[in-house]
Amino acid sequence: MTESAIAVASDHAGFDLKEILKRDLQTAGHEVLDLGTGSTESVDYPDFGKAMAEAIASGRAERGVLVCGTGIGISIAANRNPNVRAAVVHDATSARLAREHNDANVVAFGQRLIGVEVAREALQVFLKTGWDGGRHVRRVEKLSKGCQR
Ligand code: RB5
Repeated sequence: MTESAIAVASDHAGFDLKEILKRDLQTAGHEVLDLGTGSTESVDYPDFGKAMAEAIASGRAERGVLVCGTGIGISIAANRNPNVRAAVVHDATSARLAREHNDANVVAFGQRLIGVEVAREALQVFLKTGWDGGRHVRRVEKLSKGCQR
């Protein structure tokens, strides 16, 4: 079975960590879809959150990694799309719980807040952890159906 791509995207404030995580993913053999940005030149994080949402919604990527200064703005942008469940995580525990409880398909990091090694470990945990299902099914379904106006 062919594994679908993992998309990565950041603004300027997340560019350095995005590049590190991208290299980790490539080294581990994943197909990586880099949605930008391509440098530390100032850009607007909503544009990259939107690009991630489009990659997930279209099926071009199954999972995504977002980075901005805090992880907050870019995840808010991506989460405007009901196909996206982006979770800002701070460590391996929050990465695991975002998968087990929320079936998060996109992980977001704040480059200005998290250590590089903590982020690298959290990403590994995010990718290897499955969704618990069970009592979480109805709740996760409500995220995409019940939260729309
Ligand atoms: C950019 O300065 C910063 O505001 C952005 O990366 C992010 O932290 C917003 O949520």
